Amino acid sequence: MLDLCLVNCKLDINAEEVCLGIKDEIIVSIKKLPSNADETIDLKGKIVLPGLIDVHVHFRDPGLTFKEDFHTGSAAAVAGGFTTVLDMPNTLPPTNTPQAFKEKLKIGAKKSLVDFGIHAGVSDLSYIKELVALRPASFKIFMDLVDDDFLMEAFSKINSVAPDHVISLHAEDSKLVQQYTEMMKKEGNDPELYSLARPPQAEIEAVESAISLAGKYNQKVHFCHVSTKKSLQLIHNARTAGCPVTSEITPHHLFLDSNYLNLFGNLAKTNPPLRDKENQLGIQYLPEIDVMGTDHAPHTLEEKEKNVWDAPPGVPGLETILPLLLTQVNRGQLNLKDIKRLLCENPAKIFNIPNKGFISEGMNADLVVVDLKKEGVIDPDNFHSKARYSPFEGFNVKGMPVITMVRGNLVMEYDNIFKNNGQFVY
Ligand code: DOR
Ligand code: ZN
Ligand code: ZN
Repeated sequence: MLDLCLVNCKLDINAEEVCLGIKDEIIVSIKKLPSNADETIDLKGKIVLPGLIDVHVHFRDPGLTFKEDFHTGSAAAVAGGFTTVLDMPNTLPPTNTPQAFKEKLKIGAKKSLVDFGIHAGVSDLSYIKELVALRPASFKIFMDLVDDDFLMEAFSKINSVAPDHVISLHAEDSKLVQQYTEMMKKEGNDPELYSLARPPQAEIEAVESAISLAGKYNQKVHFCHVSTKKSLQLIHNARTAGCPVTSEITPHHLFLDSNYLNLFGNLAKTNPPLRDKENQLGIQYLPEIDVMGTDHAPHTLEEKEKNVWDAPPGVPGLETILPLLLTQVNRGQLNLKDIKRLLCENPAKIFNIPNKGFISEGMNADLVVVDLKKEGVIDPDNFHSKARYSPFEGFNVKGMPVITMVRGNLVMEYDNIFKNNGQFVY
């Protein structure tokens, strides 16, 4: 006897309808006809995708919970169709010691509605070995905050202790960022100056030096939020030459150009900054990109009201990405296969997340049901995140997540969010 049978599910737009059988949190059968179950839900031909995996969120817990916490962040995740998130280490304290890592594990286990992994920060290299034992999703380094010597030492140390682990990089060269920021600060307070303060070259040079380290050590490197054509080209070439590098793009770098800094001011301020049309990546580049991550980076409106140089960078992204992408599917610009590859399959593969990312027998019953016909307007007032702003505010969308299940448990159904015990995925 099954726990749950989902009937009339479509796994792709033109696919025949199937029934998904779920027992003990696992997908145990995919059949034409329904099986006996304690509960049956008729999805009436709606699309069912594997629950989305966001490899890049900032849940601000501990220490910065006035911006977001693991409960509100994970509520935003399920509202957006996500069932797994990997949290970034720039919390207070940063997740760069075994003690801080264990503390975050406890916070996630207590507060998270979705399953979660944790990226470890890198500062005191003598902690790397102990951190490895705690199974981080990756080691995250902000190249905009460290110098070349530190980066080299970090690669060397991680390679000697954890040669099979991923190093995730925020790739912007610290010297160039500093130099251009100082120059641009002299030009005033126009938000559009921000994209010149961190020019494409800062990303491109950081990507170049990281590729050479990845090659030298044969260490897997994941480039977070790639924002320029040139950097993607470099990553693509390196990979073709056998270098173990992967790329991620955010929805804001994909859909918005630097004009949005004019339109939305600091609400569109993010690192790396939005790019001009010449440098910006577009939807036609998605086949070369491995992952979409939201870089969900919530701040308060009060912080965002400061002048452009003092306001913190970052936009919340968990509750807008799927409607934005489904809109493109409805316009014929994107396939559901692309969404699955970028937000389910590759995230699971690159970050070694067991039993997730695919709808097949034996996998966790992490699912998102989408209504491709449901229309709406992006309205941050409806967000579950504490950060109720978005540079996508006012966008018309068609296609939305309507049900999210984490290991067979119903956690989001239309406007309702239910309790769930999110688990550590590693
Ligand atoms: O825009 C960003 N926000 N970029 C980063 O690298 C950090 C992030 C944050 O934590 O707010
Ligand atoms: Zn970053
Ligand atoms: Zn980030």
